[in-house]
Amino acid sequence: MTPLAAALHRRLLGTPTVGIIGLGYVGLPLAVAFAESGATVLGVDLDARRVASVTAGRSYVEDVPGEQLARLVARGRLRGTPDVTVLAEADAIVICVPTPLGKSKEPDISFIVAAADSVAAILRRGQLVVLESTTYPGTTQEILVPRFEARGLVAGKDIFLAFSPERIDPGNRRYTLRTIPKVVGGLTRVCGELAQALYARVADEVVPVSGPQTAEMVKLLENTFRSVNIALANEFAIMCRRFGISAWEVIAAAATKPFGFMPFYPGPGLGGHCLPADPYYLSWKARLEGYEPRFITFADEINRQMPAYVVQMVTDALNDRGRAVRGARVLVLGVAYKANVADTRDSPALEIIEALGGKGAALAYHDPFVPTLSLNGVELAAVAWPAADLASYDLVLILTAHATYDWKAIVREAPLIVDTRNATDGLDPSGTIIRL
Ligand SMILES: NC(=O)c1ccc[n+]([C@@H]2O[C@H](COP(=O)([O-])OP(=O)(O)OC[C@H]3O[C@@H](n4cnc5c(N)ncnc54)[C@H](O)[C@@H]3O)[C@@H](O)[C@H]2O)c1
Repeated sequence: MTPLAAALHRRLLGTPTVGIIGLGYVGLPLAVAFAESGATVLGVDLDARRVASVTAGRSYVEDVPGEQLARLVARGRLRGTPDVTVLAEADAIVICVPTPLGKSKEPDISFIVAAADSVAAILRRGQLVVLESTTYPGTTQEILVPRFEARGLVAGKDIFLAFSPERIDPGNRRYTLRTIPKVVGGLTRVCGELAQALYARVADEVVPVSGPQTAEMVKLLENTFRSVNIALANEFAIMCRRFGISAWEVIAAAATKPFGFMPFYPGPGLGGHCLPADPYYLSWKARLEGYEPRFITFADEINRQMPAYVVQMVTDALNDRGRAVRGARVLVLGVAYKANVADTRDSPALEIIEALGGKGAALAYHDPFVPTLSLNGVELAAVAWPAADLASYDLVLILTAHATYDWKAIVREAPLIVDTRNATDGLDPSGTIIRL
């Protein structure tokens, strides 16, 4: 290591200043973890409301307890700011900005570009920059390096660069930032060693790989793997319903095989910031290299038809009881894209609600994490809970199995249930529950 790198290495192992760009589902828990490790954390976000929340010690991410955030802010360990220039004093800067899709499903890396430009403007010798946003292989080298080197700083010599994919699963209490191994790919060997020193502060295990492109690809394999396997589970659910058997029972029994099988479950469709978008980052890049990946498109096709499939299940369930969707009172339980979080980004519930609303259903919803919901043309009333009179609805549609729901009571009171999550497993076989 050069003296410059060695000095940074010592600081990263000691009490460094760590800058985080993007205080969202990924950035805020990371900021808190670094602050708890003894680092001084400067959290930068363009969203003034998020900065104000951090400053007030109010958490907006389920996995970050408000008291913990407030304590770290009060002790000066963590500061939120919209001003990226404060990061000139950081030893390490971690970029956690969104990576959505554009209109024709092409990667929208404009947030990474903007963040990289803002870092380039303040970058100085001896800093480590790590990109955590999920993105296509090559981003770190193609987007970050030229912007930083345009400042006359040589990557790997004057400044240090790495990619480290974020793998947290919001709402998951079993696997946390600390216990999920952290994959790190440095631009050079020394970049890798510096990034490993940084993440060893917050993760029990750091897994070095040979470079940023490999680390970028690791994340895309993980999420494509999930998307493809969920598509397979969805297709099995569709086939099982035709055969009159339960996909959930089939999957549970298959999962008793101690090797060669890993259970994935069907549902009303993919949601959230990651799974619907990430595989498209890979297929876009592969296409540029002259290869047309097939699994990604195929899995996406199956997963994207699930909301329409659920709408058809609701239509059929009502029809079997002599009711039309038009005018039927339908209560949707759970609108977040997965259990125990408030995130409704790309949630299949939104598409299902819109479709049922378009067919004239009288819709209401409840979600313990989502107090208000309005979407294109459909204004939804959040019903009071648990005071809701379930008997007054024609159908209760379970889209998200939040742990706080009392399924026994719901099954007791609702006259007809469509359950897309097997939340009512083992309850009432009497024909009032239709399961995916
Ligand atoms: N949410 C997850 O579960 C999850 C898990 C693993 C990886 N990821 C990846 O991590 C990245 C971030 O995801 P997220 O869910 O935390 O997103 P998010 O939208 O919750 O947070 C991103 C934050 O970045 C801020 N921001 C955008 N541009 C900025 C800029 N130039 N300067 C400062 N702040 C800026 C936004 O205001 C926002 O608060 C994405 O690439 C995502 O794919 C997300």
